[in-house]
Amino acid sequence: MAKKVLVTYASCTGFTQGVAEMIGKLMEDDHLQVDVLPMKDVKNLEDYQAVVAGSGIQAGAWLPEAMQFVQENRNELSKKPFAAFLVCMTLAMKNGENYRSHVQSWLQPVKSLVPTINTEVFAGGLDLKKIPSASDRLKFHLSTLFGVWKAGDHRDWAAIRLWSSELKSLLSQ
Ligand SMILES: Cc1cc2nc3c(=O)[nH]c(=O)nc-3n(C[C@H](O)[C@H](O)[C@H](O)COP(=O)(O)O)c2cc1C
Repeated sequence: MAKKVLVTYASCTGFTQGVAEMIGKLMEDDHLQVDVLPMKDVKNLEDYQAVVAGSGIQAGAWLPEAMQFVQENRNELSKKPFAAFLVCMTLAMKNGENYRSHVQSWLQPVKSLVPTINTEVFAGGLDLKKIPSASDRLKFHLSTLFGVWKAGDHRDWAAIRLWSSELKSLLSQ
């Protein structure tokens, strides 16, 4: 029987949702059946044999709803293979690769709650129109004017494909 895997995400402006959907699509085959759901819609973790969870980053951390999801479900998540990822803008900066190990440390609070079989960090994107708070919109508009961040979609689909195939072989065992 196919293993059931949950890919779940928290996303403020849609970039993490797109990453989660791609991971789900790439992992699915005869041996793995994959559901992709926002964390707020996850009702029952017991149905799944493995969970992959990801969140967009704000202020150097997973979104509060994502941390709450892991906190509330830590016992159930700790019983199964669990992988975690994040999506952020720091890795999309010109010298973003210099910050990779710092960015990886943003997953530490998640790893302290639930042991992970694998983690990954991805560049996301910046869509000013979708940022809910006017003051954040202004702040990030200024950051683009000063050249700190560049608006647009910076997701590295090759990196996302590579991690999906790593996960697929780990979870198919
Ligand atoms: C309010 C706010 C705060 C952010 N803080 C950070 C940050 O501290 N570090 C970073 O690398 N990216 C930061 N970002 C950029 C987001 O992580 C990036 O846009 C990501 O692609 C968002 O994913 P989402 O669309 O799934 O929410 C921030 C974005 C917003 C809107």
